[in-house]
Formats: sequence, structure tokens, C-alpha cells
Amino acid sequence: MKVLVVGSGGREHALVWQLKQSPEVEKVYCAPGNAGIAADAECVPIKVDELEKLAAFARDNAVDLTVVGPEAPLCDGIVDVFRRHGLLVFGPDRQAAQLEGSKDFAKKFMVKYGIPTARSATFTSEAEAAKYIRDEFAAGARGIVIKADGLAAGKGVLVAPDEKSALEFLAGCFAGAFGKAGTRVVVEECLVGEEASILALTDGRTIVPLVSSQDHKRVFDDDRGPNTGGMGAYSPAPVVTDAVWERIDREILKPFLAGIQAEKLDFRGVIFVGIMITDGMPKVLEFNVRFGDPEIQPVMRRFEGDWFDVLRKVAEGRLAEAKLSWSEEPAVSVVLASGGYPGAIDRNHPISGLEAAAATGAVVFHAGTGFRDNEIVNTGGRVLGVSARGRSIEEAIRKAYEAVDLIHFDGGFCRRDIGAKALKHLKEQQ
Ligand code: AMP
Ligand code: GLY
Repeated sequence: MKVLVVGSGGREHALVWQLKQSPEVEKVYCAPGNAGIAADAECVPIKVDELEKLAAFARDNAVDLTVVGPEAPLCDGIVDVFRRHGLLVFGPDRQAAQLEGSKDFAKKFMVKYGIPTARSATFTSEAEAAKYIRDEFAAGARGIVIKADGLAAGKGVLVAPDEKSALEFLAGCFAGAFGKAGTRVVVEECLVGEEASILALTDGRTIVPLVSSQDHKRVFDDDRGPNTGGMGAYSPAPVVTDAVWERIDREILKPFLAGIQAEKLDFRGVIFVGIMITDGMPKVLEFNVRFGDPEIQPVMRRFEGDWFDVLRKVAEGRLAEAKLSWSEEPAVSVVLASGGYPGAIDRNHPISGLEAAAATGAVVFHAGTGFRDNEIVNTGGRVLGVSARGRSIEEAIRKAYEAVDLIHFDGGFCRRDIGAKALKHLKEQQ
């Protein structure tokens, strides 16, 4: 079997790494891939927004299954294009991808199907949004969340602690800071609690969650500094206790499935539900229609089975027949980022120590890496995801940092507290 993975980040590397272990898979292509993916797959120089070119490549090379990594091509309708060409593809179609592509669409869906989420209102007028924000603060709100309605590469959301910063961000949205995405905004209640990531496969008939995970969104230790794409993740997330899982299943996943059926959305892919857990009660912060990155890295480290077979069955609408099994061992992935991230980055520095790190048993997933004069250099904000498994989360953390400490590139940095929250919960649960 031949498989094509679309994308070039740590998520795509983790997917490629697991797919190539399938006994059925003889060839993995990745478009466009990166310097690390090149060791595990044949990289194809086609960009993720060249939908027709990607479909032509899949057809000409008799690709049996295409797995789409990032949200942008999904929202642009890559799945519709592939299906028009009669190609098997993992991912929601353009309409279903609106669950991530439009915050307003997602909110309306949640309200209609009774999925718990923050109270919100949608505005196309800056003056009306500003009035709503002032009224919320006047009524005692401790903060407010403003979301530009559209894909804004993770930058279109502000959790504003006060009225002034909220109104400034709002003005920026309407002044075009996020392009078209800012001309409609969702303003919502600020939830307080702990976040976790729930990834679930669905083919529109069945929904099957993967193991839980938790990201670290802020750039610095102790959750300080600006939001990023994610600085590290671990699985499982002890904050998702059995009781919380039961609620997620009953209050979120089942109504989600009922909703996509009732709306006749063609969703054969993964739904990634970002949740906030407050006193054991999960509420949905957002839907994404793709695997979370870095969350999928520790999740792939724990998967035991034939990942190709699972994803193929999702794409074929036969998820009920798929077999998923997981290692009991926790896994951790620590992100190494370029100096300056999440702002302007310092790039093109040679990366040393990759082989030594791999020799420890860690798996190093590549994100923003490329080749320069045959050397691997950092080219993007998030550069590597250094992942390890252990008998305990402590051991996984220790092994991941042992490998991290062998890697160097100028300006590179990581958080030093990935997994600390898991340890805190486990201690409390004892
Ligand atoms: P979103 O793109 O909607 O996930 O928002 C990005 C991040 O903003 C989330 O991962 C949270 O950290 C934060 N966030 C979003 N909505 C809320 C909310 N209602 N309350 C508190 N934090 C939020
Ligand atoms: N790690 C969060 C995301 O993939 O959006």
C-alpha cells in the first residue's frame, strides 16, 4: 500500500513514523515534508495549498490513502478535490471543516446539539461587540475572550484580562489585523480551569476517542508568556479522570456524532476537541478538524497496532471494524523552538546532536527543519519534538529531557516543565 501525508510539521512526522510501521505499507510519501521526514518518507515538493497538484500526484503514483495534516487545505476543500478524482482520503470535507474554519459555525453547532461550551455572542459590528464587552465587564466579568471568525494561524484569539486590552484587540480585528477573519468576531465568557486535548476518530457512523493528552500553549515555564502552537505534550493527561472521560463521552462526543449526522456533514477524519475542565466538568473551547500538534506525538508513541489500517477504515466509513490498542506507558514530547518564537525567529542554524539523541531511544520528530549545504538547520518556529516513553510519567519526562540536552542549535530553547502538571495531578490523586 502507498500512502501520502500532506503537511510538513511535527504532526506529519509523527503520522509518517507510525504509518511506515504498518506491515501493509510499502511506501510513504510526504508533501512537502521536512528534513527529518525525509529519512522516513519520500518528500514531494508540492505545497499544501496546491490541491489539484496533490490529487494528480496521488493519482499518478497510485496512492491508496492520503492523510491530510493541517487545517488550511481541509478548509480549502482538499477532501472534495480528492473525492472528485475518486481518491481515498482521510479528513472532513470543506463544509464539515467549518467546525474549525468558523468559530461562529462551531458555536452554533454546539448550542444546537447541547454540547457544553462558554456562553458567547457573534458580531459583525465593532460598536455592538464593544458594547457587549463593556456590559460584560460592568456585570463583573473577570476577563473576556475574543475570537476572530476564521483561520488566523492560531493568532486570532485573545484572552483579555481587562476591558482596555479587549477593546484594543477588537479594534485590531475590525481594522484588518486578521484579514477577512476579523470582520466577524465571537466574544465569549472566559472559562477558568485546566485544558486538555481530546482527539477522536469518526467516520460519521462511529466515534472512537484516542488516548487523552495535554498541550502546553504558553511559550515559557509555568504557563507564562504568549500563546504558541504548543511547546510540549504528554499522554495520558491525568486531569482526564475516568469520571471526566465519562462526561466527555456522554456530553460531548455522542452529541457531536449525532450533530454531524443530523447536519449531514461528511466527516471521515479526526475531531480534536480542546476542552477546559472546571471542577471536573468539561466544556468545549474549540473544535479542530485535524490532529493536534504536538499532542499527536506522544499519542503516536503510545499507539500499538496498524495505524494505516485504522486511518483507511475511517476514510472508508468502516471505523467500527478498526482495532486500536495503546501502550500503558506514558509518553512525553518536548518542543525545541527557534530563538524569538512565537515572534520573529532566528533561523538557519545547524542542529547538532540529533543522532546522539536518537541513540538514547528517544524519537525526534522534526517540524521546522530543512537542509542547507547538507546540514540540517532550523527553518521554522517549532523545530523539533523530542519524545520518549517510560514506565512512569517521571521516567518519560527524564528520558525526553536527557535527549533534549544532547541537541543544540544557536538560539534554540524549550520549556523545562513539560509534564509537571501531570505529576501534580498524580500526587493529588494518590
Ligand atoms: P481557540 O483557538 O478557540 O482554541 O483558542 C485558543 C486558546 O485560547 C485556547 O486553547 C485557550 O487557551 C484559550 N481560550 C479559548 N477560549 C477560551 C475561553 N472561553 N476561556 C478561556 N480560555 C479560552
Ligand atoms: N497544540 C494545539 C493545536 O494543535 O492546535
